[in-house]
Amino acid sequence: MYKINENYLKLPESYLFSTIAKKVNAYGAANPDKKIIRLGIGDVTQPLAPAIIQALHDAVDEMGRAETFRGYAPDLGYEFLRKAIAENDYKARGCNIAADEIFISDGAKCDSGNIQEIFSTDNRIAVCDPVYPVYVDSNVMAGRAGAFDKLKGTWSNVVYMPCTADNGFTPELPGETPDLIYLCFPNNPTGAAITGRKLQEWVDYACRVGAVIIYDAAYEAYISEPDIPHSIFECEGARNCAIELRSFSKNAGFTGVRLGFTVVPKDLRCGGTALHSLWARRHGTKYNGAPYIVQRAGEAVYSQEGKEQLKKQVAYYMNNAKYIYHGLREAGYTVSGGVNAPYIWLKTPDGMTSWEFFDRLLETVHVVGTPGSGFGPSGEGYFRLTAFGSYENTVEAVDRIKGM
Ligand code: MLT
Repeated sequence: MYKINENYLKLPESYLFSTIAKKVNAYGAANPDKKIIRLGIGDVTQPLAPAIIQALHDAVDEMGRAETFRGYAPDLGYEFLRKAIAENDYKARGCNIAADEIFISDGAKCDSGNIQEIFSTDNRIAVCDPVYPVYVDSNVMAGRAGAFDKLKGTWSNVVYMPCTADNGFTPELPGETPDLIYLCFPNNPTGAAITGRKLQEWVDYACRVGAVIIYDAAYEAYISEPDIPHSIFECEGARNCAIELRSFSKNAGFTGVRLGFTVVPKDLRCGGTALHSLWARRHGTKYNGAPYIVQRAGEAVYSQEGKEQLKKQVAYYMNNAKYIYHGLREAGYTVSGGVNAPYIWLKTPDGMTSWEFFDRLLETVHVVGTPGSGFGPSGEGYFRLTAFGSYENTVEAVDRIKGM
């Protein structure tokens, strides 16, 4: 008789954003006359930039001609895209990352869930609290998280690093030593950023204790301040202790197109084994590569035209962030984030729980956000709004909240 992976039974019934979608859909079905504004999941709303559309069209035409048709993509991604990434995202920022240390994928969500597979299930993970739920849930599935304490909302074998107003929503070095450390900066969900000096402390710490940092830099395009690193590889020693995850979803609007990459430096070794070889082995076995046309679209992100168009797209969303930030402050809310990230993190009013505020916002002004407690216990009493809506909807949502 077969057995199932019982670790799945330990998980909350559905993924945070699926739970929210179900609630909102039920509310919408019961109230078809209400215009719901969705500022919950961080999904983009602006159309793909013209340079990307052109690259997609050209690549589709290539696929329609026998002499330029392509079948399976190379396991690790096409050279043209990996070179463009190495040049623009790394060399241009003074980071020593070679094209063959970059693994192209269909997005950072999959990579951030899958990367744990190359590590022993004995490893102890450390996460920020609040945290993007994929890091924790994927480790629960693998049997690495221990038992769930319903009262505290924590897993027994996970080291939590609270990110609160007192520490500016950036974690302190943990008291207990973890093996794998998940960091995401600019941060989802709080919108906080980390300075180069502070990130260097993390790299030094990881090298000292023999831990690996899994660094999610999906929101780096939203950095507006000068002393904030765009990559962990800007830090000295990071090649020996860090893996970086990147996405095309937020900087180029690829949430529905799907493209991302992971950087595993060849210097990152456990004894005699390079983690690069393990991830290459996994990628080669379980993955057949992002579609050619999508990789060509990714290449267009780095063209001169693409860069100019996407700079405007990021500025559009950051203008929304500014509107939310200032609008809510005027209305008396305690607000942070929104300066180096497309997320605004606000304290719920009148001591409401995150879910109470979610219900109130949905029912009274028909605006959807994300309850902070869905990201971990330290998110209780907080709420996340995304700047990825249209400008018009963002203005309307903020005005409705102000009138509450
Ligand atoms: C979020 O809303 O946290 C993100 O959109 C989720 C994701 O990128 O997978």
